Amino acid sequence: MSSKPFKVQAVANLLGITVDAVRRDSEEAGIQVARQAGDGPKTRLFTIQNIYELAAFRAKKTLIKPKKKVIMTVYAPKGGVGKTTIASNLSSIFPLLGLKTLVIDLDFQANLSMSFGYDAEMTHEEAIEVNKPVETCVDFHFGNLLPQWQQSTTPSLDSVLKKPYGEFGPHLIPAEVSLDRLEALFTLDAIMSKQPELAIAKFLHEGRSGQNVNLDLSQYDIIIFDAPPAKNQTTRGALLASDFVLAPVSMEKYSTKSVSYLSKVLSEMESSLGKYPELIILGNFFDATRVRVAAQVLALTNQYKNAWLNKTIGSSEEFKKVLSSDDYELPLALAKPSAQSALELRSVAQALIEKMGIL
Ligand SMILES: Nc1ncnc2c1ncn2[C@@H]1O[C@H](COP(=O)(O)OP(=O)(O)OP(=O)(O)O)[C@@H](O)[C@H]1O
Ligand SMILES: [Mg+2]
Repeated sequence: MSSKPFKVQAVANLLGITVDAVRRDSEEAGIQVARQAGDGPKTRLFTIQNIYELAAFRAKKTLIKPKKKVIMTVYAPKGGVGKTTIASNLSSIFPLLGLKTLVIDLDFQANLSMSFGYDAEMTHEEAIEVNKPVETCVDFHFGNLLPQWQQSTTPSLDSVLKKPYGEFGPHLIPAEVSLDRLEALFTLDAIMSKQPELAIAKFLHEGRSGQNVNLDLSQYDIIIFDAPPAKNQTTRGALLASDFVLAPVSMEKYSTKSVSYLSKVLSEMESSLGKYPELIILGNFFDATRVRVAAQVLALTNQYKNAWLNKTIGSSEEFKKVLSSDDYELPLALAKPSAQSALELRSVAQALIEKMGIL
């Protein structure tokens, strides 16, 4: 995917290192960085791929080794609370911190895939017509990888995966509208008492243990699901397969209700399936100066001990601006590395890594 080039200072912000370290390490790594054209000083211009390559080089050099691998679903039963925004930004930040990251779009509306620059509605013919690379089309989705999909040949993981910012950036299993059929297939299974929610857990278990060579997920330190707001079989499957559920709360009048609903879903899972992911609550659209918000935080921290993440994300118009801009095919954390919201997102990522015990 294309984007504006990044100057050394922006790279330094993204990686949390000095500009000298950026220059030194990118030379040591032998990364081919372009130089600004013209007569002035030949400033280095990094592509987004260069930055992820540098991050991977640094992780290797500083011997970053995750203590454990995790699966996390970003989910809240309420629509529009920032699930997809948070999933796309976090999955862009984690590889900058040295974690191999896979993000899976489970919503047939494909907002996550679109935020990485893919066009879920475009055919190959249409792409060629408007001079876009056919890789921007979505040919396969998560459902295609499951035996439940009942197709003559299952596509390989490689043909499903998208790598919007190159090998060292986040990897994506995209979505498009036909993913909707997965829920219908799962519902049919449920009617026949086949426990479809176990299918996703089985997929991940096999993928991570390397049992299935066509489906090797063992390289990923963190796998993130972006779930739709519906509490459907697919979402339950993702939750069951996950170690953590990250629930954004928008701090509006009735938004804490969505947490109590989610918490009920989790206890139901515990009693019927004996397993459920640990809840982490993340304040989004957060404004600590509002009285109601402070009262909500108090209520949430009292009721769900240790679930509240101590870092939050404030409201910012930048999120919408980045989404609607033609200049970027990047989540905000990458498009505007020095914006306040990008700083907050990086702090949230660090806090999660700590809370989940990854590093
Ligand atoms: N902190 C924020 N400040 C301002 N706007 C935000 C913030 N977080 C998300 N948004 C915006 O809110 C809208 C909804 O966000 P998003 O699509 O991530 O929510 P969602 O929970 O995934 O929605 P759905 O339930 O439909 O899947 C988007 O336009 C997004 O840019
Ligand atoms: Mg969404």
